[in-house]
Amino acid sequence: MTNAEIFHARESGVRSYCRSFDAVFTRAHGSVVEDETGREFIDLLAGCSSLNYGHNDPDMTDALVAHIQSGGLSLALDTYTDAKRSFLETFTQRILEPRQMPHRVHFTGPTGANAVEAALKLARKVTGRSSVIAFTNGFHGCTLGALAATGNQHHRMNLPLPGIARAAFDGYFGPDVDTAGMLEQLLNDPSSGFDRPAAILVETVQGEGGLNAASAGWLRKISALAERHGALMIVDDIQAGCGRTGSFFSFETLGFMPDMITMSKSLSGFGLPFALMLMRPGIDQWTPGEHNGTFRGNTHAFVTSKVMLDKFWTDRAFEDTIGRRASIVADGLTRMQMLVPGSRLKGRSMMRGLEVPTGELASEICRQAFELDLILETSGARGQVVKILAPLTTPDELLLEAFDRLEEATRRALASRAMEPSVADTVIELRAVDVLS
Ligand SMILES: Cc1ncc(COP(=O)(O)O)c(C=O)c1O
Repeated sequence: MTNAEIFHARESGVRSYCRSFDAVFTRAHGSVVEDETGREFIDLLAGCSSLNYGHNDPDMTDALVAHIQSGGLSLALDTYTDAKRSFLETFTQRILEPRQMPHRVHFTGPTGANAVEAALKLARKVTGRSSVIAFTNGFHGCTLGALAATGNQHHRMNLPLPGIARAAFDGYFGPDVDTAGMLEQLLNDPSSGFDRPAAILVETVQGEGGLNAASAGWLRKISALAERHGALMIVDDIQAGCGRTGSFFSFETLGFMPDMITMSKSLSGFGLPFALMLMRPGIDQWTPGEHNGTFRGNTHAFVTSKVMLDKFWTDRAFEDTIGRRASIVADGLTRMQMLVPGSRLKGRSMMRGLEVPTGELASEICRQAFELDLILETSGARGQVVKILAPLTTPDELLLEAFDRLEEATRRALASRAMEPSVADTVIELRAVDVLS
């Protein structure tokens, strides 16, 4: 029996992930998390893509412990430190220079939303315009500026959230509708109601919005139309970056270069709070302290991030490994897909999922999976996507084992839902559609 009394008594009703996992976690290594009873789970959630390199990587642990034990600073505001210099040199050498990126680095407050706020504010300052285009099902954080760009009503809470014009993401109206062309038409029409945009803010793969992957062609069109209309192209790479979609940046193989990029989540390599915003040099028009914050840059994260960059991003070997593991994930999801009529694969590389007919079925699959010692969650507008965000370092055998269990969880979920008439009806209805198409 889990002792969760204090959480129920004292922790705010806003707590969320814990409601899916009836366990008190104590330890973790690699892709395995242990609870206080000694039960071990395979982690397919990875802190929502914040633990791409697994839990407690031994080299990062050693470097961090050595930094602390040697009296290294923990908080330094944005003063110069040896840790920050070392991180910036390594980030430049391993990531920016090989990709011919002249971008400058703004260390924002430590969360993803902080980086998004900085990007929105700077794009508005630089262009002298206020409207920013964001997309259906986009998720950019819960602070008010980032929330305005986020689509989900549950988070938006009917608040007045100005400054954003909403456009349809790639595929929103089905595969045959060119939503980039629609946006172009709206921007070309002086009476469409669209103000001239300061920026276009986009995720290449929408994580929280249901693992919707934009095509390279669509993204290139969006980038070109941003340029034609004098707007800055901001890629929010907070969830899709840091290797999650097969390369360090999610866009680097897609044939365009964003003006601004937001990064956080797995950037520290270790699960520490750390965020930054990259911008082309001409866009760096901040005056000193104009966008301030106490926790800008996190010295401990500088230390672990440098180890991450040296360990995983010196050559292309890690990308090859991600590619191999991505095929294991795709195969596993295809096996699940065959069990669930009307389901389809979503996402790209190691940012993948299975969309099933209802959110109830998706959460039942996750619930059954938890009984089989797996940690995973749903995403999407109705929580209808079973989301797989395994650490990129998960050993192949462990991934295969996770998918064996997931198949079993899917069978169990279907069996338990079949008892309930509404879901049984949906499944039968979808079968009929399958037969027709
Ligand atoms: C694409 C994207 N942007 C921004 C955020 C917000 O990050 P944070 O929760 O650290 O504020 C998230 C969080 O899930 C995200 O997935």
